Amino acid sequence: MHEFLRNLPKVELHLHIEGSLEPELMFALAQRNGIALPYASVQEAKDAYQFSDLQGFLNLYFQGMNVLRNEEDFYDLAMDYFKRARGEGVMHIDMHFDPQAHLQRGVPLEVLMGGLLKAKQEAEETLDLSIGMIMAFLRDRPAEEALQVLEQAAPYWKLLDAIGLDSAEQNNPPIKFAEVFKRAKQLGLVCVAHAGEEGPADYIQQALDILDVQRIDHGVRCLESDELVERLRREQMVLTVCPLSNVSLKVVEDLRDHPLPRLLKEGLKVTISSDDPAYFGGGMLANHTACAEAFGWDEAVFRQITQNAIEEAFTTPGRREELLARLQAH
Ligand code: HPA
Ligand code: ZN
Repeated sequence: MHEFLRNLPKVELHLHIEGSLEPELMFALAQRNGIALPYASVQEAKDAYQFSDLQGFLNLYFQGMNVLRNEEDFYDLAMDYFKRARGEGVMHIDMHFDPQAHLQRGVPLEVLMGGLLKAKQEAEETLDLSIGMIMAFLRDRPAEEALQVLEQAAPYWKLLDAIGLDSAEQNNPPIKFAEVFKRAKQLGLVCVAHAGEEGPADYIQQALDILDVQRIDHGVRCLESDELVERLRREQMVLTVCPLSNVSLKVVEDLRDHPLPRLLKEGLKVTISSDDPAYFGGGMLANHTACAEAFGWDEAVFRQITQNAIEEAFTTPGRREELLARLQAH
């Protein structure tokens, strides 16, 4: 099974590139940029990655990315992850990034976009890996700020595959960002949003009705509403489920209690992603093998999940055909 999962042409729809910053690279970038870290060693950083909820994680996530200062740092961050993911058999990644988290620290938009776009181009040319770009807004910051950043990103609109919504979910409902997403729609941008990770099923409903999203990131709490489940099934709305993330952030106590098998049984369009692999105990392969162990899934289940992700990936028709053919051949 491990070999099957390694060679499965995996597609990751939900990945925060800042959450792929491994402690080793964090230390290297801290040294390069003359920044002091709150950890004495790589091991001490790893030991600190014990969370009791989303906010606890976000605190360390924002602290960790403080080492990212120059274009080269963003390039190194992304290439480091792309190479690692490719080594695990990943063929495509839709990458979230958080401009506000960098703008706040005085890092210009051009610096992060320059580094990320260079890494994307190189990965596509040399690694046989395709990359989607999702510019995400921090939902615990004011909507006006998100709107400003969206306008500021005008030179990059054509290069974005979607806009997203992430960070602390509770008490930051999708409706808060109605205007931002309306503007994005006017610009012809696709919209996705985190919903139903820590927040209630109603936030998923809002993301669909008010933000008109084409993808729900996480969405595991949809099971609290039969009506919503019925709708998600009818619309075949894709859910980007992140099993090891949900365990790390105590959305579920144990992977064996995870709603993934129920979501599948309900006929929902489920996919598997790593979310923040440097913080949650592993990348795409670790997430897949953990599911195989916890749920006893056979190859057919993983094929279905992979096909779902290929169908929904932000990529060209040609690349999608290529990925579907690879899946068939596997
Ligand atoms: N949820 C919300 N915001 C995030 C996450 C997450 O899992 N990872 C990075 N930002
Ligand atoms: Zn996420």
